[in-house]
Amino acid sequence: MNRARIPVLWLFLAWGCVATNVAQALDPPHDASQSIDCANCHISHHAPGGAITAIAGNPNLCMSCHNAGGVAHSTPFADTDEAIPGTSGTSHRWDSGAAGWVKTNPANTSPGTVQSGGSFNGRYSKTYTLTIKAAGDVGTARFDWATSKPISQTFRDEFTAIAYNGTNGTQNWSASPWQEIVETDGVSAGVIRVVANAACASGNCLRIGGGTIDTRGVRRVANVSGGTSAMLTFSYRRQLATCPNSSAANVALQVSSNGTTWATLATYNLNACDAGQIAQVFDITSYIGATTQIRFLAAGTAGTSDFIYADNMQIGNLAPGGGSANVATGTNVTLDEGITVTFANGTPAPSFRLNDQWTIYANTDIHQPTTPALAARLAGGKATCSTCHNQHSEMAEPFDPAAPAYPTPGPGGAGRHYQRSDDDINQMCVDCHNTRNVAASSQGSHPVGVGIPTTGLYRQR
Ligand code: HEC
Ligand code: HEC
Ligand code: HEC
Ligand code: HEC
Repeated sequence: MNRARIPVLWLFLAWGCVATNVAQALDPPHDASQSIDCANCHISHHAPGGAITAIAGNPNLCMSCHNAGGVAHSTPFADTDEAIPGTSGTSHRWDSGAAGWVKTNPANTSPGTVQSGGSFNGRYSKTYTLTIKAAGDVGTARFDWATSKPISQTFRDEFTAIAYNGTNGTQNWSASPWQEIVETDGVSAGVIRVVANAACASGNCLRIGGGTIDTRGVRRVANVSGGTSAMLTFSYRRQLATCPNSSAANVALQVSSNGTTWATLATYNLNACDAGQIAQVFDITSYIGATTQIRFLAAGTAGTSDFIYADNMQIGNLAPGGGSANVATGTNVTLDEGITVTFANGTPAPSFRLNDQWTIYANTDIHQPTTPALAARLAGGKATCSTCHNQHSEMAEPFDPAAPAYPTPGPGGAGRHYQRSDDDINQMCVDCHNTRNVAASSQGSHPVGVGIPTTGLYRQR
């Protein structure tokens, strides 16, 4: 529909008062140069779209001109252009946010709608498939959900208290506390203890040493069954009365899938000191089981002031994707890894029909924008065309160095891409993608914003 050529005088007058507002004056090409005025996008009464727009849904409004047969046919877009990274698509999505986006199965007949919410905190992007198992309206209808990808979980003990049952991970580890081996005098006595000491990573930690440690130790069980990989991480520091010394005392770190057969991962000799806590990482995937256990097992006799301090003991594993059956539909129903789902009724009843399906695609490392101009233009918490584009104004600075200056007489900034906020140094991109805005690979992503010397190889080619 090309409304651009239809003179809609009364509407133009209705908008006249607003149109004089500089902020809403139109910059080209969304202006008279293309026979576009306010009324092409806005209608003053009974408007189907949010900001009294002529078409419901922000992308639908844009695509009513930006399509192969429209007035903006040189820059056409269709929903199928939206990228599922690595799979399909050629365009940045305009229907996604920290809660991912929802695809309705084309075969569905349910008039009800499904929206994802929350903020995905998983390590891997993944999909959730929701299937209606009992028809009805919200509250009555019930659904099953399943996920495609494993979820990361941790059993962790930071020794927050002087206790053997500390639990600081995603999984509650308190029901299977550390158990002393041979020694049976509890957490505050003997050669195995939890103590507060400056040699800990912080606060309290596990301490072994200070006398006859032979055959003594401490072990802990974690149920990591069904997981696809498991890592043991912690840190340690040795402190002795004399460094180094010739003691043969040592503490072995061992792992077992069943508590019967043990494999030694490392042996810490109590004959040298460490300047600080030393990080340790072991892949214990081959010991995954319902009773996977780790232990420190000591040998020999340690001097009365000779100790090893171990802190932040953690078993992290990838458990099979979550899921649940026969869940009641409602508002903000919790799935996992930060994602919630909200069901809304439609007509005619029942809003949700048997076996209808929705898929939620959740992407990692997405942050909701905080720049007010962007944050104010989310649709249901998701980025849309007008989140990144200010269809009224070319004022914001684009990243594109070839873009004309603003304002210039005549064309008035056409070709500056209608950016919603300045993006000349990626400001707009990094508002939502700040976890990618790092200057060193050690921060978990490829470095950006790093100067390349003029003599750099990259420049010479
Ligand atoms: C190309 C389509 C288009 C044209 C042309 C257009 N608008 Fe908009 N306008 C929108 C969209 C989409 C929104 C909602 C998103 C947003 O806030 O920018 C909007 C929002 C607004 C808002 C409220 C949001 C805000 O704070 O900016 C006002 C006021 C407005 N338009 C006035 C006008 C006036 C006046 C004109 C004509 C001079 C005009 N618009 C021309 C698409 C358009
Ligand atoms: C009434 C028709 C119409 C609507 C609705 C419309 N556009 Fe346009 N738009 C055009 C035309 C015509 C051009 C110029 C030709 C082209 O680039 O295809 C254009 C150009 C653009 C450009 C390039 C600007 C530049 O600096 O060169 C952007 C970006 C853009 N539109 C974004 C949007 C967004 C976002 C929306 C929805 C909020 C939208 N348009 C809605 C007609 C429209
Ligand atoms: C994540 C931010 C983002 C979203 C969402 C987005 N765009 Fe863009 N768009 C850009 C940027 C940045 C450019 C300019 C550079 C380029 O071409 O990649 C651009 C380019 C364009 C252009 C090409 C003309 C030009 O300025 O080079 C048009 C037209 C356009 N967008 C319209 C849309 C429409 C319509 C939607 C929604 C259906 C949309 N954009 C969604 C960021 C976005
Ligand atoms: C308003 C928020 C927002 C802004 C601004 C934004 N993005 Fe995005 N970006 C997203 C969301 C949400 C996704 C996830 C899409 C999905 O669910 O697949 C995404 C995905 C991506 C992806 C795919 C990444 C992957 O691993 O799957 C790339 C690449 C990307 N954005 C680049 C950019 C660039 C470049 C800019 C600046 C022009 C930009 N984004 C601006 C929200 C934003």
